[in-house]
Amino acid sequence: MISATTIRLDMRRARNALSPFQQQNNAAQLLNRLQKNPRILRAKKIALSLTHDAEIDTLPFIHWCWENGKKVYLPVIHPFSPKHLLFLEYQRHTPLQLNRYRIAEPQLNVLTICPFSQLDIVFTPLVAFDKQGRRLGMGGGFYDRMLSPWLKNKTGPYPIGLAHDCQRIDTLPTNPWDVPQAEIFTPSAHYQFNNVS
Ligand SMILES: Nc1ncnc2c1ncn2[C@@H]1O[C@H](COP(=O)(O)OP(=O)(O)O)[C@@H](O)[C@H]1O
Ligand SMILES: [Mg+2]
Repeated sequence: MISATTIRLDMRRARNALSPFQQQNNAAQLLNRLQKNPRILRAKKIALSLTHDAEIDTLPFIHWCWENGKKVYLPVIHPFSPKHLLFLEYQRHTPLQLNRYRIAEPQLNVLTICPFSQLDIVFTPLVAFDKQGRRLGMGGGFYDRMLSPWLKNKTGPYPIGLAHDCQRIDTLPTNPWDVPQAEIFTPSAHYQFNNVS
């Protein structure tokens, strides 16, 4: 089996090869799927991340969330527990700053933190996914750590992966801590996995 490192390199290269036009199209098609989904329509508190390194653009969906009365939360690296994430509300005028991975995140503000368990849906960024909903991240394990209650007994926020179609592969190498996603949306498909009881 190909190593996770090789897959990360290949997949990041593939998504970086998408043209600005394809990126824009992909984001529009993704939004079109997301905005029709009953679970997403019902959700009140949604966590997702800002686009980084040619990931699929989440900004059109963020605008849709704002326009439809949903609260949007972005991950912030925990100041005292740097392997964990906090989720802070993101509104139109929330000041952002770059974290150590050069990803924009809200400035720390205790008033806008949402306890993880109160989020309805967590949309995870990913580098690759497979036929069974397994997810390969950037290698930090952040979402595996946050979603470990989901892996154990399907409690907590509902995990949905967002990706370009080109990020799908047959089978990913996995580790016991990797949290399979309940669903994955791409511009041209919606995968629902039977790993959800
Ligand atoms: N639930 C967890 N508890 C403790 N450590 C974890 C947990 N999930 C992941 N990790 C650690 O995070 C590191 C990166 O995880 P990995 O799955 O390779 O990254 P990613 O999911 O970002 O692709 C691993 O070394 C792993 O030990
Ligand atoms: Mg993992």
